[in-house]
Amino acid sequence: MTRHFRLLSDLAASELHALIDRAIVLKATRHEHARPLAGRCLAMVFQKSSTRTRVSFEVAMLQLGGHALFLSPRDTQLGRGEPLADTARVLSSMCDGIMVRNDSQAELEEIAQHSRVPVINGLTDRTHPCQLLADIQTFVELRGPIAGRRVAWIGDGNNVCNSFLEAARLFDFQLAVACPKGFEPDPDWLAFAGSHAEIDEDPAVAARDADLIVTDVWASMGQEDEQADRLSAFDGYQVNGALMKLAKADALFMHCLPAHRGEEVTAEVIDGPQSVVWAEAENRMHAQKALLELLLSP
Ligand code: CP
Ligand code: NVA
Repeated sequence: MTRHFRLLSDLAASELHALIDRAIVLKATRHEHARPLAGRCLAMVFQKSSTRTRVSFEVAMLQLGGHALFLSPRDTQLGRGEPLADTARVLSSMCDGIMVRNDSQAELEEIAQHSRVPVINGLTDRTHPCQLLADIQTFVELRGPIAGRRVAWIGDGNNVCNSFLEAARLFDFQLAVACPKGFEPDPDWLAFAGSHAEIDEDPAVAARDADLIVTDVWASMGQEDEQADRLSAFDGYQVNGALMKLAKADALFMHCLPAHRGEEVTAEVIDGPQSVVWAEAENRMHAQKALLELLLSP
């Protein structure tokens, strides 16, 4: 059966833990390790912009001995309305994996249904599981196991927040979400996290005693028209020095990037000593190498 990575829970918790350990080894041996994907090709279907996801998958495939194809709607027949199912059939007849970044989790499912090779979620409107692999790796490298720790999500209950809820249960940490009314994460993901999640409107409640504070932009890709309304809705949800002081003294700060300094986070925090955003971005590549090795190796 073809294994996909549409969600974190497409892998068992034990596989996720092994994958993080493997990512740390691959990082330490980045130019010396074996090339298990020699001759293999990853199709990368991007229907939204990307810097980190594109570069990390492309360099990951190169370092594993394989190749990656960047496919944008501007240059493929997808942009002219060729059905997703037909595209999936054709790409999977020539490539060994398909990474997809698109607007819709349902469309990702449709591609997976018609693909004979693994399909990897490179971000949808609902989830961003590859980001969580990098975030967990970063925490583990710097602070040890994340199980039993307290993580605070401040701001929009968006795609990355939903994946944090999924991760809370799979990696056994506590996620305190603080978001304004009307911007809560998906109820399904809150239900999945169960006792691993708590939600409050007050950022101070979530941040108190946290081991890690995380935020993301207030207007995600596709929500550009809502930017002005969102700026006022999220007033009071900025991660700043005062909020960081409520967390543990050695708390880390993460942001998946790109960031808007002066909106969801101050420059003082994101460019300050508790911020690990650059390691987090780099770990996208190492964690995805471990994922590609698992899913695409012969
Ligand atoms: N964090 C992340 O997914 O970044 P990109 O949008 O640049 O890929
Ligand atoms: N929530 C953001 C994440 C970008 C990596 C978005 O979807 O635009």
